[in-house]
Amino acid sequence: MREVVVAELGDLAEVLVARCEEVALAALATRGRVALALTGGNTMRVLAPALVQARLPWEHLEVFWGDERAVPPTDPESNYRLADDVLLSRVPLVPSHVHRMPGDQPDLEAAAAAYEDELRSALGPVPRLDLVLLGMGPDGHVCSLFPGHAALFERTRLVLAITDSPKPPPVRFTLTLPMLWSAGLVVVAALGSEKAEAVRRVLDADDEGLPVTRVTRHAASVLFLLDPEAAGTPHPEHSSG
Ligand code: 6PG
Repeated sequence: MREVVVAELGDLAEVLVARCEEVALAALATRGRVALALTGGNTMRVLAPALVQARLPWEHLEVFWGDERAVPPTDPESNYRLADDVLLSRVPLVPSHVHRMPGDQPDLEAAAAAYEDELRSALGPVPRLDLVLLGMGPDGHVCSLFPGHAALFERTRLVLAITDSPKPPPVRFTLTLPMLWSAGLVVVAALGSEKAEAVRRVLDADDEGLPVTRVTRHAASVLFLLDPEAAGTPHPEHSSG
């Protein structure tokens, strides 16, 4: 199922809140907890603050990240820090349910493996996220999965460290495609005209050269949240199928 919402920011944020509430209700009823993965960039800066007002079962929420930069959690580049500033510090989460990617660990490989263990110990032997929130770069990257990068071919590990990200900083952690594919709902947000070409390539051309297409083509359920500039359309619209 693919759903595309084109709207101004305030309306996109409302759709995000509504979908999170819906997913959380269903996950809570079936598994007694809700597992979300957050991102970095504008999606967190602009859309995620609305989640503070969401009616979510905060004490049952397990929070993970789709990617993280290899910096300490206090660094302005840290995706954890951004999420904490705009959302996590403002809602009643259980601290042990906030699963920060260890961007401050010197041994990157060990840190990526440890995060995979953390996913398994929190969510079970075959960990599955209920909702993954993704931003998309102008080159179609999502998480820290970049076009043409070997990380796109990983099929066993769930978390990888990479040292050559074309988007600075170069050293990062990322969830891999198998982890993203298994998510209940993948939300891809794209804001601004510099995303319009990639949006067109994923939605109209199903272009496999873009990491976002590799994710959305195989995910069970995908919601695109686009502002009119990213959608390349002057008029808001809503379509699904
Ligand atoms: C990161 C992000 C990354 C981001 C995209 C889109 O750590 O850089 O997680 O994947 O979501 O680059 O970022 P913008 O929405 O800011 O363009």
